[in-house]
Amino acid sequence: MSIKFKQVAHTYGQDTPFSFQALEDVNLEIEPHKITAIIGATGSGKSTLVQHLNALLLPTHGEVTIEDKVIVANEKPKQLKALREKVGLVFQFSEAQLFEETILKDVMFGPKNFGKSEEEATILAKEALTLVGIEEDYYDQSPLELSGGQKRRVAIAGVIASNPSILVLDEPTAGLDPQGTLAMMQLFLDLNKERSTTILLVTHDMDHVLRYADNVVVMDKGKMIYHNDKYSLFENAQLLNDLGLVVPKVIAMRDALIEKGIRLSKQIYTLEELVEAVFKEVTHG
Ligand SMILES: Nc1ncnc2c1ncn2[C@@H]1O[C@H](COP(=O)(O)OP(=O)(O)OP(=O)(O)O)[C@@H](O)[C@H]1O
Ligand SMILES: [Mg+2]
Repeated sequence: MSIKFKQVAHTYGQDTPFSFQALEDVNLEIEPHKITAIIGATGSGKSTLVQHLNALLLPTHGEVTIEDKVIVANEKPKQLKALREKVGLVFQFSEAQLFEETILKDVMFGPKNFGKSEEEATILAKEALTLVGIEEDYYDQSPLELSGGQKRRVAIAGVIASNPSILVLDEPTAGLDPQGTLAMMQLFLDLNKERSTTILLVTHDMDHVLRYADNVVVMDKGKMIYHNDKYSLFENAQLLNDLGLVVPKVIAMRDALIEKGIRLSKQIYTLEELVEAVFKEVTHG
C-alpha cells in the first residue's frame, strides 16, 4: 500500500498570466496503515498536496505513485476509477462534495459508482450514516438544507461508505462542535485500527496531531519541510520553534509541571496519563 510523491510540483493556471506554483519538489513516502498528519500555515499547499492522491489535481511535474498506479504529470491516469475507489478524499469544503437530491442517495453514490447493487449500496450508506451520527429521519432531506456540521458528516459518510483503503481527510472536523469532533476523530481512529485504513489528516490542531497521528508532514510555502514520527517533532522544542508550530497542550502542561518541581515522566502524552501521574506524585510523592 505504498504512497510516494517524487519531485512533485503543482502550478495552478500553468501557462496563464495568473499562474501560481503551489507545490515545489515534494518528495514524500507515506507509511501505510498509519495516520499521517499534514500541517502547515494557511496557503502552504496542504489541500493542493492531498488532492493529488486521487488525481483530483494532476502534478504539473513529477509523479505520484499509489501502489501499482502511477500518476504522471499532466496526464489523466488510466485507472482513474480504481484509484478513486482505493483513495477516498473528504474535501475541505463539504458543499463541493454534496450534490444528490437526498442524503441517502448522496451517500449511496460512491458504492453504486464502484459497482455495488442498489440494495448493497443502501446497506453500506445506512451503515456509514450511522457511523457519522446521522439518523434515519434525515435520509430523505436534501443535503443542502443541512447545517455546516451535518453537511460535513454526510460528506464523510459518502466517502467511508465505499470503504477506501486510503482515507484523505482535509480538515474533517472544521465546523463540528466539540462532541462531534471527538466522535469523528474516534471514528477515524477506529477505521485505522480495525480496517487498517491508511489515513492522511490535514489539520491545524496540534492536540489532534499528538493524540491521533503517528507521523507528521509539515508544509511551508509549497515545500515539504519536515516528515517524521510525531514524538521526534513534539519533543524537540527548538525544531517546533523553528517550524513556527505550537506545542500541544498536554506537553506544555507536563513540562510546566516538571519545571515547578513535580516529578513526572517525559513519556506522558495524554491528559489521562498526566492526571494519573500528577495524582500519584501528589498522593505518594
Ligand atoms: N484553484 C486555485 N487557483 C490558483 N491558486 C490556488 C488555487 N487553489 C489554491 N491556490 C493557491 O495555492 C496555495 C496553496 O493553497 P492550498 O489550498 O493548498 O493551501 P492550504 O495549505 O490547504 O491552506 P488552508 O490551511 O487555508 O486550507 C495558496 O497560495 C492558494 O492561494
Ligand atoms: Mg486547505
